[in-house]
Amino acid sequence: MYRTHSCGELRLQHKGQQVTLAGWVQRIRNFGGMTFIDLRDRYGITQLTVNDESPAAVRETAAALGREFVLQVTGAVVERSNKNPKIATGDIEIATAAIAVLNPADTPPFTIEDDSDGGEELRARFRYLDLRRAPLQQAIRLRHRMAQEVRSYLDSQQFLEIETPFLIKSTPEGARDFVVPSRMNPGEFYALPQSPQTFKQLLMVAGYDRYFQIVRCFRDEDLRADRQPEFTQIDCEMAFVEREDILQTFEGLAKHLFKSVLGMEWTTAFPRMSYADAINYYGSDKPDIRFDMRISDLTDAVKGKNFAVFDSAPYIGGICVPACADYTRKQLDELTEWVKRPQIGAKGMVYIRRTTDGIKSSIDKFYTPDHLAAIADQCRASQGDLILLLSGDKKKTQEMLGALRIEMGNRLGLRPNNVFAPLWVYDFPLLEWDDETQRFYAMHHPFTSPKPEDLPKFYAADRHAIAQVNANAYDFVLNGVEIGGGSIRIHDSNVQRRMFEVLGFSEEEANYKFGFIINAFRYGAPPHGGIAFGFDRWCALFGGQETIRDYIAFPKNNTGRDVMLDAPSKIDEVQMKELYLKSAL
Ligand code: AMO
Repeated sequence: MYRTHSCGELRLQHKGQQVTLAGWVQRIRNFGGMTFIDLRDRYGITQLTVNDESPAAVRETAAALGREFVLQVTGAVVERSNKNPKIATGDIEIATAAIAVLNPADTPPFTIEDDSDGGEELRARFRYLDLRRAPLQQAIRLRHRMAQEVRSYLDSQQFLEIETPFLIKSTPEGARDFVVPSRMNPGEFYALPQSPQTFKQLLMVAGYDRYFQIVRCFRDEDLRADRQPEFTQIDCEMAFVEREDILQTFEGLAKHLFKSVLGMEWTTAFPRMSYADAINYYGSDKPDIRFDMRISDLTDAVKGKNFAVFDSAPYIGGICVPACADYTRKQLDELTEWVKRPQIGAKGMVYIRRTTDGIKSSIDKFYTPDHLAAIADQCRASQGDLILLLSGDKKKTQEMLGALRIEMGNRLGLRPNNVFAPLWVYDFPLLEWDDETQRFYAMHHPFTSPKPEDLPKFYAADRHAIAQVNANAYDFVLNGVEIGGGSIRIHDSNVQRRMFEVLGFSEEEANYKFGFIINAFRYGAPPHGGIAFGFDRWCALFGGQETIRDYIAFPKNNTGRDVMLDAPSKIDEVQMKELYLKSAL
């Protein structure tokens, strides 16, 4: 037996026992005749002691050890005279009687500590060493726990876990496909799934009325902190359901995860908000409702007072920032610069301060104190509050106010990562019109059902009428992050055909790309709907982080590279030929 116990297991109750541990050398401290070695495994750290009374062989081996050597150590559990309350094994140490070096180690390129001295690139190249660090071990453990709890909950709700293929035909989730050339079918390509969307719908047609899968998805899109080219979804679908059944079922899943993973009991229903309200009040389809600071539409209130900027703007909105009326000129100038950055894109910012000395603003020339007070009232500003106003195109200005709101939330510490604010957002528009290509795109995906009451508009000839159609779609949002999205699907082949027509596919194109699903709908497709959650994002949020990278054992960097493997990489000529490929470079 390599070990009798783990490095996180021994306590005072084991005092006097002869034990064998195995692990990595975390740290060696030498004090004259006394050497302390911290031995680490995934369960914890145990202190080993070597001193003048230790066997000569042990002293000799100990003198030659380095960080990250792999050891097997035998000795007696001894009560420490100098206890360490910070670690679970801090009451004891091992009086080392024998050490075997199972494998020596080169000095690692960075320290294997909670706060490593290694930069991101270096740690990514040696990911297997980075993964030894406690914060990553914790993240990976959390991910494991989440996966187990997802399975246990969904199993208890009669969901079947069913795998779907990776080598498929393009799925329309809006990103580019990763493609795989087929050697046996010259000149033809598989696409890797952007999601198992079409398969899960076919499983509903096949009668497996509750499906789930914790599944890898592949999307060739620009990467961000919360986006990886391959990521994992908790993908789910149900038949014979309406939206309410789906929201209830998956609110149940979320509550189960809150309780089993974070120990948080949720007794009330999650709030819900329409897409229209989310945009109007929060300037985002994924509002962070941990704090209020809602956007007020001030268009009618501020127009007509000869302030040309406002008079010419289609929309003026404001947010009330609590207890910031004492912002200095310098702070306000800096904030104005912040909204003018290209990422935000505002032309300028107007402020109103409501102080004990009355009301002051950057537009005092045009507005009387009474006008300003009326605006402040409309923003629900109390004494001591600061109101920030932006103007311009309605949608863009709302988005800018949304970004400013999040920024102020950050600056004021209103977004603590141990507070959770779940939210359902529903009634998204079905389609988005793109001026450049002069066509509609599906806001979610082309299998999403229009709201039944909007069907007449969906069949209208006028594109402005079609643009108003709402989708029976919903998102699950947690702390301003889109964790999941889904919809009730189209199950009528005629509605599905109309959808492809509205999206500008010719009959042949639709048949070529999606004939299999249009056909399937002719053989008794049940009403169905579903949702998919971004598993990596959910894990990261529960772990209190914004970036998902640490919750994936082997992630890609932000240019989509695996720097440890050095992938992607070139393939040799023979392989290229076999696959009928020619490089265009
Ligand atoms: P959607 O495209 O909204 O829906 O994806 C579902 C959830 O997956 C997560 N996600 C990502 N996470 C990490 N990296 C990425 N590149 C990435 N892209 C998406 C998000 C998102 O909410 N088939 C539909 C679901 C359905 O209709 O049932 C779908 O894939 O958290």
